[in-house]
Amino acid sequence: MSKNAREKQKQMAAKAAASYIRDKMTLGIGTGSTVYYLIKEIGALGTAGINVRAVVTSESSRELAISCGIPVCLPEEVDHIDLAIDGVDEIDSSFYAVKGGGGALLREKIVAYKADDVIWIMDESKLVERLGRFPLPAEVLPFAYTWAAERIEELGGKARLRERNGKIYGTDNGNYILDVTFSPGITYHMAADKIRQIPEVLETGYFNPVCSRIIVGTEWGAKEIVNQRQSRKRPETEADGTDDVEV
Ligand code: 5RP
Repeated sequence: MSKNAREKQKQMAAKAAASYIRDKMTLGIGTGSTVYYLIKEIGALGTAGINVRAVVTSESSRELAISCGIPVCLPEEVDHIDLAIDGVDEIDSSFYAVKGGGGALLREKIVAYKADDVIWIMDESKLVERLGRFPLPAEVLPFAYTWAAERIEELGGKARLRERNGKIYGTDNGNYILDVTFSPGITYHMAADKIRQIPEVLETGYFNPVCSRIIVGTEWGAKEIVNQRQSRKRPETEADGTDDVEV
């Protein structure tokens, strides 16, 4: 898929997700290049008189949200989140997902678990039969991170410290990321639980099916796939002009 086609798909998914936003909602806003389009859409909703406030999952999303005129709140300033919308790095047909490519996995998980409803948005390349193409990110304390990496290796994984521009990548929480790959036969489901038990590990990017639906941008438009097992509070009206597939 060309870069242009992929960007168009992200944009379509973000636009369709924005149609679930209602006036006065408290939103959870994720992180990443798909969420970039979502934030632009939310900014446009504000101009059209639909006013929301948001808890954001990263400093980059905060900056963009503020520049689009979206009021940003701290978690301690809100008692609930109506709807969280975020991207994914890969997702299987049972809605298990890997996130954290943008390094915001810990705040993303906190916000997703707080929200009444979660929608994940993506381009088609994110749909996989089996998780494992994208390394599993784990946010770790800088203190003794090498010990965490050793422990992960004992569990059959290979941990690579994330770097950016030749320097150790630091999360917005001041931690490091280990990107973990596994030998064939070890599933993320099995591994994530064990990795989380390592004391230096704060969280992994393995997400349970917390979303009520996913919205996938395709060549033809936005396709919605409903997660029947996640009965969250649903908005009164469905998004217009999208296919709704129930699984
Ligand atoms: C950030 C994330 C992102 O949601 C994920 O990496 C997807 O990003 P993009 O929309 O740029 O592909 O988990 O931590």
